Amino acid sequence: MKIIGFVNSKGGVGKSTIASNIAVEVAIEGLKPLLIDSDVQGSSTAFRATRELDDIKAISITTPTIHKDLQGFNGFDMAIIDAGGRDTAVFRSAIMACDLLIIPTNPSQYDIWACGDCIQVLKEARSYKDIPAYFVLNQLIPNTIVSKEATEALNEFSGDVRLLTSTLTSRVAFKNSVAYGKGVSEYEPEGKASVEIKNLYKEMKELLNENKET
Ligand SMILES: Nc1ncnc2c1ncn2[C@@H]1O[C@H](COP(=O)(O)OP(=O)(O)OP(=O)(O)O)[C@@H](O)[C@H]1O
Ligand SMILES: [Mg+2]
Repeated sequence: MKIIGFVNSKGGVGKSTIASNIAVEVAIEGLKPLLIDSDVQGSSTAFRATRELDDIKAISITTPTIHKDLQGFNGFDMAIIDAGGRDTAVFRSAIMACDLLIIPTNPSQYDIWACGDCIQVLKEARSYKDIPAYFVLNQLIPNTIVSKEATEALNEFSGDVRLLTSTLTSRVAFKNSVAYGKGVSEYEPEGKASVEIKNLYKEMKELLNENKET
């Protein structure tokens, strides 16, 4: 079982939205996803509860034992962790569990600077385990380019975390699909959000495969 984390101590950057959508993509592929919610707010478990199909299992782990607990899970192909940063110890254990870490961020300079806390925890975790980590830019404004300032802010972290090629735009489908317990690719199969999430999933799978060989 591969373990992917969508983590950021900053709130509202899209962790739960992206984690749920990636779980849907895994299920669509015929694989078995396990969604792990480490947030007491419980967005990801609520998503699963709303979803009619029984193809995504979701559990809540709000203790700093995620990295240990996940070792005991069998029968899943991919675990997807949705982790915020209200409790540092829980956040740390989420990061420690990951084979691939994705840090969603909005493209503003403030949001990117705020990733510093998360990267600090990542650096500490890396003294125990090699954890590949990438930013994904979320909620880009349609038809605009990422500002020079945001690009520079991202470059500040490039020694530790690189930027994924895939990006996600601010689109209504990401908001509306949740109410139906659906991923954007189910809610609006021909929509642009669907293309974006499928590209992200593809890029993540390529990274997991690359890291398998090293
Ligand atoms: N690409 C997007 N397009 C439109 N809306 C989005 C997008 N990504 C996230 N949102 C919206 O932004 C808000 C925050 O997203 P989400 O809850 O996924 O973030 P989060 O990082 O999990 O937040 P929290 O730290 O509070 O758990 C939600 O209302 C969500 O619907
Ligand atoms: Mg959330």
